[in-house]
Amino acid sequence: MGKNISVDLALANELFSEKDIEDFNPFLIHSQKNIIERSGTGNEFLGWVDLPYIMLNDKKLFQELEELKNEIQKNNTDVIVMIGIGGSYMGARAIIEAMQYYLPYKLLPIIYLGHHLESAYIERQLKLLENKNYYTIVISKSGTTTEPAIAFRLVREQMKKKYGDAYSQRVITITDQKKGALRKLTNQEGYRSFIVPDDVGGRYSVLSPVGLVPLYLVGIDIRELLTGAYDESKLVKIDCWQDNSAFQYVTMRHLAYQKGKPIELFTSFYPCLFYVAEWWKQLFGESEGKNNLGILPTSAMFTTDLHSLGQYIQEGLRIFFETIISIDNPFNTLTIPSSKDVDDGMEFLAGKQISEINKIAEKATAIAHSDGGVPVIKISIPHISTYYLGALLYFFEYSCALSGYCFQINPFDQPGVEAYKNNMYALLGKPGYEELARKLKKRIEKI
Ligand code: PA5
Repeated sequence: MGKNISVDLALANELFSEKDIEDFNPFLIHSQKNIIERSGTGNEFLGWVDLPYIMLNDKKLFQELEELKNEIQKNNTDVIVMIGIGGSYMGARAIIEAMQYYLPYKLLPIIYLGHHLESAYIERQLKLLENKNYYTIVISKSGTTTEPAIAFRLVREQMKKKYGDAYSQRVITITDQKKGALRKLTNQEGYRSFIVPDDVGGRYSVLSPVGLVPLYLVGIDIRELLTGAYDESKLVKIDCWQDNSAFQYVTMRHLAYQKGKPIELFTSFYPCLFYVAEWWKQLFGESEGKNNLGILPTSAMFTTDLHSLGQYIQEGLRIFFETIISIDNPFNTLTIPSSKDVDDGMEFLAGKQISEINKIAEKATAIAHSDGGVPVIKISIPHISTYYLGALLYFFEYSCALSGYCFQINPFDQPGVEAYKNNMYALLGKPGYEELARKLKKRIEKI
């Protein structure tokens, strides 16, 4: 129960004493109560807590997905276009990018759009789609976000040219049940559609239709993902520190913060987790960074970034701690061959497995960083699989909510992201923003 994720604090001992842990425990218990009893601020967004169980038992969802997948296969689909930004796309991407190297079969190719506004990228993807047979999934809870709305308009026009009126049969939307422009468009055009639950915010939505629909359609076993998350969800009610890995992780984050380390560096020697790190950054950054508080989430992938950030990590300002995501039993088929006839100075590695060398690199680095004054928290999963990634995502969601409540903030809102959006709307001439536009234009002239 909740044992899929383990937290090792052997290299973080400068952060804590037994007394520190004891003193922090009441905050954890209170935060846990906020979640279990739905009594904390932002409690209208606690729907993620039971999502794994609810989704696993949603027979209608699985049936609809199966029918859709069969249709997509029957129509010789080359690629899925997934349009969304932030919490509406990051979770699915994290799983797809991580699992693509670990599955014995190929996933249906996917093209991401709507997650930024770089014209050259968008144009290249649209060009690529001209000769492809595709379905488009559009994901937006609000249904009004600029980047995905622009991308969908472009794709929609292209689809109309290619498929005529039948284009709408190739569009799947995931949005609010009643509100927003995307819901309106869905009803008008007759797109097939799934609902984003009201009580689940974007960054907590990967285990809802937001993540599950694209994942299923490209070929990820979402039952495995949900089962991993469900098994991990039993952690929510464990109130014993030694048995609750999320308690251990959250305690260390807060003790590091209290001891002048307000930055967390998420690292891994498995770069397939790059987008898991991106997802994690959004989860913690958007949840905790408010009221002038919170730990800044950053990330690096090793060994790659040891050749760029390594120097700073080892000897720069001591204002951060590191959280290494480790894999107990990494995938392992490559062995270094012997090469006696060519002397490249690496013969001492002959016969060793690459994964063994990577493991040693991880241990050597963790010790070096810890010796250099960077506390290292190690979070391990047994191996990379859909099941364990489901467990890991849930572990972080729960830890993030707990940690946010320990900061006494609302972990489920994001009032700060409106500031740039309002400025952008005003400068682009959106109706209703005239006064702000006038003020901003004066300021822009001076820059
Ligand atoms: O976590 C969040 O709330 C955000 O990242 C949103 O998911 C993101 O801004 C996209 O919003 P929407 O789904 O409404 O288009």
